[in-house]
Amino acid sequence: MLRHWCSTSLSLLIAGLLSSEAVSAKDFENTAIVRQVDLAGSLVQATTTYAVKALRDGADVYTVALSTQDKERTSWMEARLKGQQKALVWHARPLDTPKTDYHFVDIKLPKRLGLNETLNIVLDTVQTHATKPWPEQSAQKDEQALIYKTGLYVISPYRTLVQRTKLKSPSPRIISHTELEDISFATGAPFTKSGSTVTYGPFNNIPPSSNEAFLEKHQDEVLIHFHYDHPVLEVLKLRRAVEVSHWGANLNIQDDIHLRNAGPKLKGHFSRLDHQAQAFYKKPAPHVLPSLTLHLPPGIRNTYYYDLIGNVSTSRLRAAPRLPRGSNAKLSSVLELRPRYPLLGGWNYTFTLGWDAPLGDSASYDSKTGKYYVKVPIMTVIPGAVVDEAEVKVTLPEGADDFEFTPPFPAKSMWISTEKTYLDTSGRPTLTFEYNDLTAKHDGYIYVSYRVPISAHFQKPVAVSAAFMGLFVLAIFWRRIDLRIHKTKKA
Ligand SMILES: *[C@@H]1O[C@H](CO)[C@@H](O)[C@H](O)[C@H]1NC(C)=O
Ligand SMILES: *[C@@H]1O[C@H](CO)[C@@H](O)[C@H](O)[C@H]1NC(C)=O
Ligand SMILES: *[C@@H]1O[C@H](CO)[C@@H](O)[C@H](O)[C@H]1NC(C)=O
Repeated sequence: MLRHWCSTSLSLLIAGLLSSEAVSAKDFENTAIVRQVDLAGSLVQATTTYAVKALRDGADVYTVALSTQDKERTSWMEARLKGQQKALVWHARPLDTPKTDYHFVDIKLPKRLGLNETLNIVLDTVQTHATKPWPEQSAQKDEQALIYKTGLYVISPYRTLVQRTKLKSPSPRIISHTELEDISFATGAPFTKSGSTVTYGPFNNIPPSSNEAFLEKHQDEVLIHFHYDHPVLEVLKLRRAVEVSHWGANLNIQDDIHLRNAGPKLKGHFSRLDHQAQAFYKKPAPHVLPSLTLHLPPGIRNTYYYDLIGNVSTSRLRAAPRLPRGSNAKLSSVLELRPRYPLLGGWNYTFTLGWDAPLGDSASYDSKTGKYYVKVPIMTVIPGAVVDEAEVKVTLPEGADDFEFTPPFPAKSMWISTEKTYLDTSGRPTLTFEYNDLTAKHDGYIYVSYRVPISAHFQKPVAVSAAFMGLFVLAIFWRRIDLRIHKTKKA
């Protein structure tokens, strides 16, 4: 869902309100549109390339239309010019009327185009919750298949000379797909199938299509049913707690993960014997998850992994060494995590994963500003999984103030609170960020800066010595009682 879109900064919102006038269909023409959908489980990648031609001098905003269905399942989006790395700035327009079945996203082009000038714009998106298992239930030994539906036409506020949609299945084993006849804009066959790809189109000379009249008259839905040989994973809830400790020079990260196998629900009973036989013949059932490989930061220590029952000893960690300061090497510790039981369709598994890391690897102090800077990874990517709800909590040292933070993308909600733990006097400032529908594309860092007043540095020793003093007094007190008991006993 594009919930992340709503919370962009105020200036973008104002810009959006100002530009909510109708898109001028006369600004551009699409000489060609090609949409490719790479089908998978929880994460479907859809890439649309628009070859555009400016129909007037000076046009510099190109508008993309998304159906409501596409908008709701798009969790991540990036626009750029073909062959270039730099992302283009875009923003979603607020809805004129909530009932419309299409939404506009304005993409700012890097320069004003001259009349007849052309560009190729690539729109990359990741869709979540876009496929569903079909059949919805299957036995342990059955195969797994998913369905995906989408609109037949890529809609656009501009005229389109030619367009195609390619649905690419992970394997050529496509069970079925929508077969259409008599399509108004098709000159030849409306669809073709080749290997693992079903192509709808080419469709020619399509008028501006992001309007009720076109959608009602021409838009159709196409469906594809395909085999998928990997578990469909969903993290229903991720709670990440990050604790910055100056005392131990430590960064502790702990994840509570509520994982779900969103594949077809298991029909009948689970048979461990069948599971072992399948493992023995190296033909694991496609919808069963035996283990997960996670990439954790380098230089970590005290890694722990436990579930509701206790420590899970079947995990294996290959810890990567600490990187030298300033190194950009991509090195990670690799954890092979084996859930206590194989995770079958519809089953949940809740576990906790945590580790310590030297604070110096992710924090620094700037003596000029007197501030500390720390970067905190937003999540651990579980390959192929979508994180439905995430809560990332960053706890700063006691007494920290004057904090500033930059998340990699706007949070659905964010708040600051104060947490008190053992031996704390004033409590620790805690920043909490909430997100929905995170994907591997959202993997990034929250940057936080803060100041720790000199007085705060002494709060802890004072608190610690007060506690020791307390214990000491208590010990003496107990000894006295103890003595007295002895005495009475003796007497
Ligand atoms: C733009 O293209 C149209 C149609 O191809 C042509 O008639 C016109 O002369 C072109 N204008 C310029 C300035 O190139
Ligand atoms: C948990 O299991 C791991 C892996 O076998 C082991 O190294 C670790 O010491 C265990 N931790 C506890 C607290 O039992
Ligand atoms: C898994 O968790 C979800 C949400 O907490 C719950 O609705 C569902 O019943 C659980 N499934 C099983 C098999 O326990």
